[in-house]
Amino acid sequence: MPKTLMCETSLLEKDLSGRAYIVTGANSGAGLATAEQLARQGAHVVGACRRVDAGEAAFAEFGEVAGSTEVMKLDLGSLASVRSFAEAFAVKFDRLDGLVNNAGIMGPPQGKTEDGFETQFGVNHLGHFLLTELLLDILKASAPSRIVCVSSVMHVGNRRQVAEIRLDDLNWEKREYDRTMAYAESKLAIVLHASHLARLLEGTGVSVFSIHPGWVRSNLAASMMPGWLNSVWNAVLRPLAGPLGTLSPFEGAQTTLHCLLDDEAPKHSGEYYSQNSVLYPNRENRPGGWPMPSPNPNAHDAELAERLYHRSLELVGLKADT
Ligand SMILES: NC(=O)c1ccc[n+]([C@@H]2O[C@H](COP(=O)([O-])OP(=O)(O)OC[C@H]3O[C@@H](n4cnc5c(N)ncnc54)[C@H](OP(=O)(O)O)[C@@H]3O)[C@@H](O)[C@H]2O)c1
Repeated sequence: MPKTLMCETSLLEKDLSGRAYIVTGANSGAGLATAEQLARQGAHVVGACRRVDAGEAAFAEFGEVAGSTEVMKLDLGSLASVRSFAEAFAVKFDRLDGLVNNAGIMGPPQGKTEDGFETQFGVNHLGHFLLTELLLDILKASAPSRIVCVSSVMHVGNRRQVAEIRLDDLNWEKREYDRTMAYAESKLAIVLHASHLARLLEGTGVSVFSIHPGWVRSNLAASMMPGWLNSVWNAVLRPLAGPLGTLSPFEGAQTTLHCLLDDEAPKHSGEYYSQNSVLYPNRENRPGGWPMPSPNPNAHDAELAERLYHRSLELVGLKADT
């Protein structure tokens, strides 16, 4: 079993007083563990959650922390909600040290977001894309600052197929729907977004990373299972899954925390950081790496990254600069 990559203790003891972070999807899993750790180190953490009550209930479990927390409403499946969140954030805050684009869905039945995008592409990529664009000014004004885009080992694809970006069919209207590959494509879009944005942000003091958090024991797979199987998974299998190579949410937060807190990380802006994963189709990549080259050749296509960036600007209703 590859060794779990863990942050140096000094990073997890760094004083983050006075710093502000946004973590999307902070009410469960790796996002919740990330939010808790940042708050324990003294930061103010805004949990951007689609269910505010669930976020508040989860944060209430932290007990006393050195920093502070609050939850604000964000539904990444609605561009209007993303805009409302960004406006509300700008009214309350004048600094943002780190944006963690963590929320995600995996493998729901075929569907569309409020704005008509394929659900996984819309929520995982486009919602975060718009959020990031709307927060860029405050991130630049707060530099040095960082953006962590949570992708997945699945951005590589599976044993049969390498994931690619079909610019001619981003919403899966011309192909038979494959929910696993739709997830893979949305996660490849995230890797490409991070690499292109890092190029655009060179010299601004804002660094961007894409990451794979590892195979984390979380709620993520719930939408891929019938309800009864999900209950069995939660009650019986999830606690036993550690020996299979799965990680606790705290372990799953390590790669994000490393990218947010490590002094050397900004030298690697735009790169891909991966926790170990037994799920890599190719065995030699299983130990992961902070950073490591993505094993998907399409993730290194700078022209594709630029084209996707401009298409994303159009889709979310922002005019492309060029
Ligand atoms: N678990 C793994 O093994 C694994 C592996 C690779 C990558 N990842 C990635 O890691 C990230 C965190 O996942 P996790 O494993 O911690 O799963 P999780 O516990 O299911 O967390 C996902 C979070 O995303 C939120 N979310 C879903 N749809 C949303 C929307 N439309 N708007 C706002 N928030 C939304 C969820 O909110 P609700 O509670 O309201 O649904 C939840 O807070 C995801 O991006 C996932 O793709 C996970």
